[in-house]
Amino acid sequence: MLKAAEGIIKIMEEKEPKIIIGLMSGTSCDSIDAGLCEVFPDMSVKLIQGINHPYPEHIRAKIFSAFRGEISIKDLCQLNFAVGECFADAANILIGEFGKPDLISSHGQTVYHYPYDEKLDGLSLKSTMQIGESAIIATKTGCPVVSNYREADIAAGGQGAPLVCFADEKWFKNSLVQNIGGISNVTVVSDDCATFGFDTGCGNIMIDWCTQKFFGEKYDKDGEIASEGKICESWLDCLLQDEYYFLEPPKTTGREYFSNKYIENILKTAPSEPKDVIATLTALTAKTIAQAYERFVYPACHVDTAIIGGGGAYNKTMMKFLRTYLPQRIELKTHEDYGISNNFKEVMAFALLGYCNFYNIPNNLPSCTGAKKRVVMGKVSK
Ligand SMILES: Nc1ncnc2c1ncn2[C@@H]1O[C@H](COP(=O)(O)OP(=O)(O)O)[C@@H](O)[C@H]1O
Ligand SMILES: [Mg+2]
Repeated sequence: MLKAAEGIIKIMEEKEPKIIIGLMSGTSCDSIDAGLCEVFPDMSVKLIQGINHPYPEHIRAKIFSAFRGEISIKDLCQLNFAVGECFADAANILIGEFGKPDLISSHGQTVYHYPYDEKLDGLSLKSTMQIGESAIIATKTGCPVVSNYREADIAAGGQGAPLVCFADEKWFKNSLVQNIGGISNVTVVSDDCATFGFDTGCGNIMIDWCTQKFFGEKYDKDGEIASEGKICESWLDCLLQDEYYFLEPPKTTGREYFSNKYIENILKTAPSEPKDVIATLTALTAKTIAQAYERFVYPACHVDTAIIGGGGAYNKTMMKFLRTYLPQRIELKTHEDYGISNNFKEVMAFALLGYCNFYNIPNNLPSCTGAKKRVVMGKVSK
């Protein structure tokens, strides 16, 4: 017995800092984010260098076709390998400057996420798909690659998301860690309760889509268009009735729900002035965050700080609306206030998940994903 205990202590002592490249592209598909990190046994992560590596435009267009379910199985098959090459290219830029890391941890590109507990003939339909073939990344970089994290959590009964909560719990205390990416998600870290997290709803997806449609721009830079529009309160009230916002956590969502069809449908009742559409959709994201806190967070625990991150944090109008909708006692902070780069936080989180995979440390948080047990997520390609 004593021997076994000593063995465990020895394994724990043997953990060393590792150099890990985290790779990620989110639902916005705005860039492949790559971060060279040093991960320490106490689970802290230092970013050495980060880059935002754009997809070639034709690959990005294919990924959006995949989101719409408009590509063939042959195209999807090829896209998996092509995206793997793009991810490897991003990693190789860092490797060219700094040399090879101990390993690469790749989230991949989500093309489909179906977190619902539905069955067909007794077989579960719950599933997720991240592409960016890791064998290609491993071969093109010469480094071992950990990838395909979400599947193990789903196999354990979870939703396979959100995964960054694991890092938030290690890095922050008594805070609402709010990410506003394509989708918005929060991690609630509090002394009063077990860490929990969920998707609060749409983040930038609908704003991006309408900015492209009405103004021919990829996104509403700094929230300038929204700042020139007026919130249409009646349309906002109508959008806030969507059933997703009322579901109890754990819950996750994605482009499958906030789809082009969904957006086209809500636009049927939109105000006629495009700037007002952008302003109202920006308000929608801010308001759904504030309402999610009121419904699911404040009754569970006391927190006074919200750390706002993701691309939406750069949208000044979004931040202004958030300030209006959140109670005054909630202090708004940035990741930078804690010495963490907002731009590269998610790749730092994936570097940490990769570190845990390497040392066989369970890296899902069942209180966030709904999994029945803790598991070591990630598959290795060498
Ligand atoms: N300066 C900015 N002003 C307004 N919005 C921004 C700005 N920078 C990024 N964004 C928004 O953030 C999105 C990207 O956010 P990100 O956190 O990378 O999301 P994801 O994880 O889905 O890729 C962009 O599509 C855009 O909508
Ligand atoms: Mg992104």
